[in-house]
Amino acid sequence: MKKHLLPFIAVTLGMISCNDDASNKSTVDTIAKTAAAVSAKNWGTADEQPVKLFTLSNSKGDTVTITNYGATLVSWSSADRNGNHSSVLAGPAALDGFLQKPPYFGAIIGRYGNRIGKAGFTLGGTKYTLPANDGPNTLHGGVKGFDKVVWTAEVPDSNHAEIRFSYMSPDGDQGFPGKLSVIVIYTLTNDNEVKIRYEATTDKPTPVNLTNHAYFNLSGNADNLILTHQLMVDAERYTPVDAQLIPTGQLAPVQSTPFDFRKAETIGARIAQVNGGYDHNWVLNKWDGKLRKIAELTDSISGRLLEVSTTEPGIQFYSGNFLDGKFITADGKAINKHSALCLETQHFPDSPNKPAFPSTILEPGQTYRSETVYRLSVK
Ligand code: GLA
Repeated sequence: MKKHLLPFIAVTLGMISCNDDASNKSTVDTIAKTAAAVSAKNWGTADEQPVKLFTLSNSKGDTVTITNYGATLVSWSSADRNGNHSSVLAGPAALDGFLQKPPYFGAIIGRYGNRIGKAGFTLGGTKYTLPANDGPNTLHGGVKGFDKVVWTAEVPDSNHAEIRFSYMSPDGDQGFPGKLSVIVIYTLTNDNEVKIRYEATTDKPTPVNLTNHAYFNLSGNADNLILTHQLMVDAERYTPVDAQLIPTGQLAPVQSTPFDFRKAETIGARIAQVNGGYDHNWVLNKWDGKLRKIAELTDSISGRLLEVSTTEPGIQFYSGNFLDGKFITADGKAINKHSALCLETQHFPDSPNKPAFPSTILEPGQTYRSETVYRLSVK
């Protein structure tokens, strides 16, 4: 428990302290220019550990709240075209909601984002069995994935809107081999970007596929369905799935299908042609492991534009098909089917069982690195 307390004390102190060399002009200038800060408050307990809610603020008046329960992005308040602020993320307002096994609102997903078919895989000649938590398959890391654990939080510099979470997943956690050390760093920039950087190391070969499961509704109001949002995804191909949403292994062209978002299209325009709604992985163009812009989401009600950049080869566009009104936002709106959507950057689902897909196996001595940037602006 103690290891969680220290960073929190650091946060509180950092808020009010100045560096000893605060007289140093460049330090003062940087602080004045960025005017960014981190604050923390108690948010409850989970697994008998303290849970905090952190607020990151930038010079544009954007604020992002993040909790160390699941390293979860809780809200992102940003201006619409009229300068009115509201959160572009849908999810519960209090920890209580996050403890009721919600559909991964804003959480970090791991050790393996999305599905692993038949709840298992073979690696180095050994068969590993995982908990089946989605029919016969494993979804989002298992029964108690990284979204349901308390992470250690650290604020390196409270004048800088950045927070670093770490978690040690033990050998055998949810059936996965190897002790995996994970770090997730969130930064809110003055350019209204939320940057998420992931790092992991292991002591045995293991699959790793980390993502964030934020649900966006750019209008800031879950009553306005995302069917009127427009989406662009820079992908010529996608990974078709079977009835259980496991990729068939094929990389199919999007051309002449409802999966063609190479030019911005209204989400609702062709969704009826997709059984169950969109819940698929797109094969992003020009993947070389470097950060590049791969998607744009716009909302004509608020004028907001979300740009998504990533180092990953894929993105899961999930149109909130299973949302059922059970969870309520901070402003009292029920989160219904299509109230919000996810753009989860990732390696392809079921890669541990699909040798032709880019590998997700992390070896001892290697460092897993991934970065995704969500940037908001108004048109
Ligand atoms: C992902 C999956 C969906 C669903 C949601 C959470 O996006 O692909 O099928 O499980 O998470 O409900």
